[in-house]
Amino acid sequence: MLRDGALQGKTIIVTGGGTGLGKSITRYLLTLGANVTICSRRQAVIDETAQELTTELAAVEGVGRILAVPCDVRNPQEIENVLAQTVETFGRVDGLLNNSAGNFISPTERLSYKAFDTIVDIVLRGTYYFTLAVGKYWIENKISGTVLNISTTYATTGSGYVVPSAVAKGGALIMTKSLAAEWGKYGIRVNAIAPGPFPTKGAWDRLFPEPLASLMDDPGSRIPLNRVGDHGELANLAAYLLSDFSGYITGESITIDGGEVLMAGEFSHLRDVTDEQWDEVSKSIKQANRASKS
Ligand code: HXC
Ligand code: NAP
Repeated sequence: MLRDGALQGKTIIVTGGGTGLGKSITRYLLTLGANVTICSRRQAVIDETAQELTTELAAVEGVGRILAVPCDVRNPQEIENVLAQTVETFGRVDGLLNNSAGNFISPTERLSYKAFDTIVDIVLRGTYYFTLAVGKYWIENKISGTVLNISTTYATTGSGYVVPSAVAKGGALIMTKSLAAEWGKYGIRVNAIAPGPFPTKGAWDRLFPEPLASLMDDPGSRIPLNRVGDHGELANLAAYLLSDFSGYITGESITIDGGEVLMAGEFSHLRDVTDEQWDEVSKSIKQANRASKS
């Protein structure tokens, strides 16, 4: 979507950049010329992604460089290390994509106390810790950085069976708005993206395991645009929000879900009614109207 070299000279940290959506966004940021540090718990995964993307994009003119640093976002010392290594390698940090998450699907009454803590610690506390570390660095160094948090649509609607994740994503969304208000004076922008279903192994293994997958509708079939999202569509939006082209947007959460959340509208599920059935409906309404007048 953005022109070649649109992110030249920028350095962006992507948490959870070794897999799924974080990896797809990293690929696009590199293509646009940004240097990217990817981090997550599993060193082998981020090293392999760094190697793969370096090889894959070698022929792209003006491509950015990639650095992989292991980090558990629940650990402030490891976050400080990612920041220090990024500054040492690339000279500065301009953007932070908080994309790491943990999730599982379960009736809430079956969860242990620790299960809740595990998800909230990764998604809410981890997002806060990383944002705090990078924000302090930006304020100290007078850098107008930008934070982008990967949220979910159920951060605002709520959702059963993923309560720890919904609570944590809801908290991170309010943090997005609160910090946007507070740090605007430093030129720091804080935004979020709320994706609908974008197939990834990490999410699908944990949210649609068997026998649930066979019991549930195909996620695309509940969506007005009749399909799940494409990673490139999400990467376009993320790159835009991390770039200076979105310089006057802050405190926003942009939904990218093919209209899925709108299906909560009272009559939206009637989209499967056929034209012939609508003819019948129209006939019976007219009949009822005539009867009520006579
Ligand atoms: C119930 C579970 C559970 C499950 C773990 N726990 N899995 N409880 N159902 N399926 C409980 C454990 O019993 C334990 O509590 C506690 O959670 C911690 O479990 P660990 O396995 O020790 O945790 P850890 O090794 O830190 O692993 C974290 C994880 C794991 C979150 C549990 O799933 C993970 O690594 N996920 C990372 C990737 C991920 O989740 N990606 C999906 C993002 S999708 P006790 O009390 O027993 O010790 C997303 C939105 C998608 O966020 C929306 C789609 C439309
Ligand atoms: P994914 O591939 O499982 O990504 C999750 C990433 O988080 C992994 O790379 C994982 O790497 C990392 N991670 C987990 N715990 C961590 C920790 N403690 N510290 C550091 N990193 C950690 O799943 P995904 O679908 O791409 O999800 C990416 C983001 O999109 C998440 O925020 C998710 O909530 C959001 N989202 C996804 C969808 C979807 O349909 N896919 C929809 C809405 C929102 P390690 O295991 O190596 O740590």
